[in-house]
Amino acid sequence: MAVSFNNDIMPIFNQFRGQMMWRFDLTNYEHVKANARIINNRLANAAIFGPMPPPPFDPLTPEQIQLFSQWIDEGCQP
Ligand code: HEM
Repeated sequence: MAVSFNNDIMPIFNQFRGQMMWRFDLTNYEHVKANARIINNRLANAAIFGPMPPPPFDPLTPEQIQLFSQWIDEGCQP
């Protein structure tokens, strides 16, 4: 089954929504889809740009980052 925003991605982002509202709504499908490349680039290159979410939060796991990348590859399914 394809990765789904509502089932798979949104639950990962939900707890960080408030802290990123200045830029986009991480729980809003259209916002995340429109910024998917920017978000993926940031998540995939934490060593260069710094982890997101930043300390003291635990960074996303490699599996969660991979899931987001797969969601893009599969065409950003709702
Ligand atoms: C999984 C959760 C998160 C994702 C996917 C995310 C994503 C991003 C992205 C893509 C940017 C760059 C935006 C741009 O270049 O226009 C960014 C910047 C930023 N985020 Fe987040 N964010 C998350 C959680 C958080 C949390 C919890 C905080 C709380 C402090 C936070 C604070 C910031 C700040 C201060 C910036 C601007 C400075 C910088 O780029 O380091 N983010 N975030």
